Amino acid sequence: MIDLRSDTVTKPSKAMLTAMMQAEVGDDVYGEDPTVQELQKKVAKMLGKEAALFVPSGTMANQICLNVLTQPGDEVICEADAHIFHFESGALAKLSGIQVQRLPGQAGLITVEQIEAAVRPGAHYYPRTTVIALENTHNLAGGTILPLETIEQIARFANDNALKMHLDGARLWNAGAASRIALDVFSRFFDSLSMCFSKGLGAPVGSIIAGSQEFITEALRCRKQFGGAMRQVGYLAAAAIYAIDHNFPRLSEDHAKAKAFAEILAESSAISLNTESVMTNIIMFHLPGDFEASKIAVQLQEKGVLVHAMGPRSIRAVTHLDVTRSEVIQAAQIIVKLVQA
Ligand SMILES: Cc1ncc(COP(=O)(O)O)c(C=O)c1O
Repeated sequence: MIDLRSDTVTKPSKAMLTAMMQAEVGDDVYGEDPTVQELQKKVAKMLGKEAALFVPSGTMANQICLNVLTQPGDEVICEADAHIFHFESGALAKLSGIQVQRLPGQAGLITVEQIEAAVRPGAHYYPRTTVIALENTHNLAGGTILPLETIEQIARFANDNALKMHLDGARLWNAGAASRIALDVFSRFFDSLSMCFSKGLGAPVGSIIAGSQEFITEALRCRKQFGGAMRQVGYLAAAAIYAIDHNFPRLSEDHAKAKAFAEILAESSAISLNTESVMTNIIMFHLPGDFEASKIAVQLQEKGVLVHAMGPRSIRAVTHLDVTRSEVIQAAQIIVKLVQA
C-alpha cells in the first residue's frame, strides 16, 4: 500500500525507538522529567518564546491555548476551513464555551480588512471578539504557507485592538522548511502557538505549545484539567527531540516528492490542480463533475493507493518520510490512469 492519507501515518524509525528507549525519565506532573524539560526548553528557544509545554496531541494543544486566551461566551475569528472549526469535534464549544466566526480565505489566508470588518462592536448583545486564530501551513487549503507580511498586518491590528493571536502551527515545521524562514520569525506575531511532532516529523505522539511564562503557567493548569498531564513521558519527548534533530532538516524531501506528484497529476486534463499551490507536503486536487471523490478513493485503495476524499470532488494526498519518491510517482500515475479511463 502507498499510504498518502496523511503524514500522521508514519511510524517511528529504529533510530527514533532507540532514542526513546535511552531517555532519562521522571514524573512530569511533578516537573521531574529531564527529557521533557529538555524538549520544552529546546522548542521555546527555537520559537523565541519564554516557555513551552509538551501535550499529547495537536487538538489538545489548540484547545488549551484557546481556553487560556478566552472566557466562555467569547468569539474567536478564524479562516472558514480552519482545523479548529472542522476537525476538533466541536471542542471549542464543549470545553471552553466559545464560538468561532469563520471568514472565507484565499488559500487559507484571511486579510486584515476582513478581520477588521468582523470584529464585534462593544455593545453588550454581541459576543466579545478576543482572539484571531491562524493556521500555518493551512491543511484544507492544501498545505499553503501564510505570507509573513499578511501575518504581520493582522498582528499589528490585533495589538492595536487588544486582541490575542493564536497560531495552529501543527505543520509550521513545513512552513519553515519550505520558506527557509526561521520559526521564531513566524512565531513572534503570536501570543500562543501549537506545533505537532506526530505529523511530518514522524514521532508517534506529541505536540507542544509555546508562549510567555505567564501563559504557560496557565496552560499547565489547563492541561491537567483536560486530562493531558502525563507521568514518565520523557520516552515520547525523546522521540520529539529526535524528530526535531533528524526529521525537521529532511522535510524539503517531502516537499519535492509532493511537487513531483502534483506535476504528474496536473498533466491530466481530467484533474484540476494548480502546481503553484503545492507549497509543502500536501496536495489537494479536484475531479470533474462526473466523479465522486469517495468512490475514487475506494477504487484507488483496490489499486494499492490510499488517499483522503476531502469533499464531493476533492482529494488530498500527503507525502511523508515513510513513502519513497518512486512510490509517490507510481501513485500519481495510478491516479491519472484511473480518472482518464
Ligand atoms: C492543522 C492541524 N491542526 C491540528 C491538528 C490536530 O492534531 P492531532 O491529530 O494531533 O490532534 C491537525 C491534525 O491533522 C492539523 O492538521
